[in-house]
Formats: sequence, C-alpha cells, structure tokens
Amino acid sequence: MIYFVASIAAIAGLLFGYDEGIIAGALEPLRAEFQIGPLAEGLMTATVPLGALLGAAGGGFLTRRWGRRRLLLGAALLFVIGALGCALAPSVLLLSLGRLILGIAIGVAALVAPLYISEMSPASQRGKLVSIYQLAITLGIFGAYLVGFAIGESWRGLFATAMVPGIMLFVGVLRLTDTPRWLVLAGRRTEAQEVIAHLGGMDESDPRVAGELGAIEQAARAEHSDATWRDLFGPLARPALIVGTGLFLLQQLSGINAVIYFAPTVFGEAGFDGTRAQLLATVGIGAVNVLMTLVAMALIDRIGRRKLLFIGFAGAALSLGLIAFATGTGMENGQWLTLTGLVLYIASFAIALGPLPWVMMSEIFPLSVRGLGMGAASLANWGFNFLVVLTFPILLSSLGLAGVFSIYALVCVAGLAFTARYVPETSGLTLEEIEAHLAAGKPFHTLALSLKVA
Ligand code: BGC
Repeated sequence: MIYFVASIAAIAGLLFGYDEGIIAGALEPLRAEFQIGPLAEGLMTATVPLGALLGAAGGGFLTRRWGRRRLLLGAALLFVIGALGCALAPSVLLLSLGRLILGIAIGVAALVAPLYISEMSPASQRGKLVSIYQLAITLGIFGAYLVGFAIGESWRGLFATAMVPGIMLFVGVLRLTDTPRWLVLAGRRTEAQEVIAHLGGMDESDPRVAGELGAIEQAARAEHSDATWRDLFGPLARPALIVGTGLFLLQQLSGINAVIYFAPTVFGEAGFDGTRAQLLATVGIGAVNVLMTLVAMALIDRIGRRKLLFIGFAGAALSLGLIAFATGTGMENGQWLTLTGLVLYIASFAIALGPLPWVMMSEIFPLSVRGLGMGAASLANWGFNFLVVLTFPILLSSLGLAGVFSIYALVCVAGLAFTARYVPETSGLTLEEIEAHLAAGKPFHTLALSLKVA
C-alpha cells in the first residue's frame, strides 16, 4: 500500500520536474527559429510557474468539490493537452499558452499529490514520502536534460515527450480509489469503509476499520472548524506562516530556477562554446541534483533541519560568489571555476534548500490551519519561482551573469540570518510537540532548545 502511495508521489514529482527541465534544452532551437528578445523569453519560460500558481490557487477549492482522484485525472489530461499544444504550436504566443496549460496541471498535481500522500500514509512514513517527492522532481529534471541532450535539435520533439509522464499519471490514477478522508467529507461513508478495509487488508466488519473511520470523521470535523485566512495570520499560526513562506521565498530567490530552466544558457554565458557541450554540462548538473538529494534524505533526520539549512545557505552563497568572481573578472579559463561553482551550488541547494521547505511545510502548521498554511506556502513557492524565471533573461542582459548571481548570493546570506532568527528545529519531534510550543507562545526558533532544557 505504501508503495502504491509512493508511486503516485513519484509520478507527480516526475511530471513537475520534467516540465521544469524541458525548457532548458528547447530554448536554443526556439531562439534559432523565432526572433525572441529577453522579455519575450522570460515571459514564455515563466508561463509554467505562472500557470502553476493559478493551478495551486484554484486546486485547493476543487479538491474539495471533485475529490482528489478526479482532480488528478483532470490534471493528467491537461498535461497531455498542454504538451501536445506546445509540440504543435505555430508561434511563441501559442507555445506560451500551451506552457500555461502545462503549468496549471503541474500546480494542481503538486498540490493534490502531497495531500493524497498525507491522507493515505501512516504518520511514521510521511516525512520519507515527502522526500521521495523531491527526489522524483530531481529525477524528472534529470530525465528532461537527458532527453534534451539526445534530441536537442527539435524543440517540438522535446515538448511532445512531455506527454509520456502525463499518460503515465492518467493510467496510474485510473486504478486508484479516492482517499477515505475525502469520501467521508463527501458523505460517502460506506465507500470510505470499503477503502479503509481494502488498504489495510482487513475485513469490513473488523473493529479496526470502524476505529479508523471514527478517527477520520473526528479529524475531518476538527479541520472543518471554520479556520480562515485570518487565523493563519493570528498569533498561533503566524510564526509558522513566516517560516513556511519565508523558506520558499529564499529557496526561489537563491536563483535555483535560473539554473534549472536556463542551464545551457548559463553555461554559454560562462564561456562553454557549442550547444552539445552546454547540454552535456547540463546533464551533469541534473545528476548532481539527484545524487545530493539522496544524501539529503539520509541526513535530514540525523543532522537536523537548522544545521542543514546553515550548511546549504553558506555553501550556496559561497559558490554563487565564486561564479560571480570567475565570470565578472573575465579571467582566463574561468569557465572551469564557474563549472566548479555551479556544481557546488547545486549540491548545496539539493542537500538542504530543495527538500527542507517541503518537509517543514508539512510539519510546522497547527492542525486547524494546516491545509491553508500548506496552500499559502506552495503559492509562495510558485509566485517567487515565477518572479525569478521572468526576470532572469532581463537581468542577464542588463547586469550580466556576475551581477545576477551576486544578487542571488546576497539572498543566501540573508537566508543564514533568517534561519538563525526564525527557523525551529523540528527533527525528532511529534507534530503535537511542535504545536504545543507554538501554543505556549515561545519564540519558534527556540523549539528544540527549549525541549532539551525542559
Ligand atoms: C523547487 C523547484 C526546483 C527544484 C530543483 C524544488 O524544491 O521547489 O522550484 O526547480 O527543487 O530540484
């Protein structure tokens, strides 16, 4: 059963990553075919995070209306339509429209998949499953880079391949049931009972089935306790809101998607001539991203969230500084120093700044506003992603690579101060212990400390 849920997480993550990464290889042939300036390039690229912002905003409402399963099926269909639209687009405008549709589908899938996971998986496995999701994102990006390297000349072919994970999601979800929790909310109690029995390999008359159903009904009532956006800004939840949205702001403004979406362009700016060399170096970046995410998964519960974030922000600030230095001074053979900087940057990101905002967003919000809080955090993720991707080509043409990366480096330095001042240490604590600390009104970042002292 856990494999079943994990596979949904994996397919949704793959889609997310694949559609983020595919543009990297497509940009060069697109520039060759259409005359696009920096503004049009930024707009066309940023339609994916823009669509995702819309999908995430509307998705929350639709998960309640349609249920998780039907919404995922809808998202899978949108994926296929969007990818096909991109592959056939006669102009940059229509291509942007296709990418907007893809973005909406990503926003919905990226919202529903974690919800599905949290409603279907035992509490003890939740953290691991969230990390599997991030690993799948990086695998999706890596896959897109490999395909970009293999068929780099044809941007139409590249976008057409994005239909494959969409079809996988559709077929996978067809075999799924909806979650017992949604069935309860929709008043379909008997079906909920059947699903619980089936998932646990139990008979429907087993008292454990009635027990689980009762617990779900109770939790559903608790969450239905008219929590509003105002509660999210209230004294109990505000510290969590600051950390949840702040970490995504920093994750995105550290410039990660300037690299993920524009990697070959960045390599070109850094002095790597020739499309093949740029695409190959891009594949290397994708591989480091996957490998270091695996390392992060092994470390997250051992080293702790705060220490990992300090390591990640410090590493990212230093490596971005190194790239700015190598490209800004125009030194001889500077491209190798830039390559080293980029590898170190991706490693620092993947070990901490990539997975931690997702993991922490699922554990810091008090139960009554958890859904709203996670929604706000994922909107922050897409909103700042959009901002970075839209502005990168424009900033690149006005400030140069050294200038833009210096800005991202400063953001990472701010990340160190933010972590010290606001981020709590949550590893090894139960969600109830975290919530009790908030309810006691103590500063959030003293969490683990205060428990140790007590
Ligand atoms: C971020 C994405 C990013 C990816 C890179 C994720 O955690 O939210 O925006 O592209 O990591 O691996």
